[in-house]
Amino acid sequence: MIRRNAARGKRRTSLSGVVELLILLSPSANRVYASEAPRLVAAEIQALATGFGLPLDSVEPVQVAGVDYLAVRLAGAVDDEAVRVLSVVSAAHAIFAREGELLRPVPLRRPERYPSDLVTIQKYPGKTNEQLTRLLLDVTAAATDHPERLLDGTLQVLDPMCGRGTTLNVALTYGLDVTGVDVDKRDFEEYERFIKTWLRQHRYKHTADVGQLRTHGRVRGRRLDVTVAPTKEEFKAGQVQRLTYLGTDTTDLDGLLKGGQFDVVVTDTPYGVEHGSHGDRIARNPLQLLDVALPGWLRVLRRGGALGLTYNRHVAPPEELVELFGRHGLEPVGDPTDDTYRHRVDASIDRDLIVARRA
Ligand SMILES: C[S@@+](CC[C@H](N)C(=O)[O-])C[C@H]1O[C@@H](n2cnc3c(N)ncnc32)[C@H](O)[C@@H]1O
Repeated sequence: MIRRNAARGKRRTSLSGVVELLILLSPSANRVYASEAPRLVAAEIQALATGFGLPLDSVEPVQVAGVDYLAVRLAGAVDDEAVRVLSVVSAAHAIFAREGELLRPVPLRRPERYPSDLVTIQKYPGKTNEQLTRLLLDVTAAATDHPERLLDGTLQVLDPMCGRGTTLNVALTYGLDVTGVDVDKRDFEEYERFIKTWLRQHRYKHTADVGQLRTHGRVRGRRLDVTVAPTKEEFKAGQVQRLTYLGTDTTDLDGLLKGGQFDVVVTDTPYGVEHGSHGDRIARNPLQLLDVALPGWLRVLRRGGALGLTYNRHVAPPEELVELFGRHGLEPVGDPTDDTYRHRVDASIDRDLIVARRA
């Protein structure tokens, strides 16, 4: 926690005394969220500040010399960890410390351990945007009782409807272990093909094994197990990240995953609209799907962990989600019915985000 470490007298950077940081948003954020980008990213910063105990005074859009920034005002000095937390913000392109009339660049402490094409290169209908995936992971991790695991590489992540793996790839770049589940066979195969090719082409030391997913002699689908490390030395030393993809139905995870093993469960739920060719084969009503799937997801989510979903308000009104979460013993963070993260994607998708804690 920022405050606790600061109190322990952790080394402060030369930023000591600076209380205003200007975050330049990446151009892609504006493409994804259009004019909503500053509002959504400001909400993400609020959530991270709360989780990490940053002494946030305010965060608001400002213009300096005709350029848009988010001004983050912190009460007191800024230490290394505050910079690390702000560097994780999904759309942070650059950070500057405002010193009078001047802006001084602040070196980012980015979490990425692999080149960005790991998350950007795949293009397919129904792909969850990588910025939104990062935002969801950040705010969900911030809601757990161990947000620091997001930065130290120990957060255990499950995406129980991972499609072709945007969350898997984002988690890998953050240096995390991650598990994904999806029932769509084609998504499984496409992801297997993609990750194997990517790892080979980038010459990372890794293992990638595919086999049947079986319990008690019953075939439940397929599984992909990957181990990888960003350097040969780490791989040799066994300091590997683990990625598992279970090609099976998320409503029937019994016996497949260890209880309480995940810090966060994050997923982009089906939008109830057609996405390419596999739209007909998946469950179309997210509320019914969640009602059936939640017990299995909560069994593998540890106490003090959090669940984060992005969803389409047209097919899952937030009031109904809150009621559903209540029935499953989940406590929403903040007021999910307000418009904090709500943004329009197109005529059929009114997208929002909900985070809840496992009590
Ligand atoms: C919005 S998509 C997720 C896309 C993913 N985040 C990506 O970027 O590729 C929702 C996913 O839920 C999956 N899904 C729907 N019902 C499911 C079920 N019962 N079990 C597992 N996955 C399911 C679909 O196959 C689809 O891939």
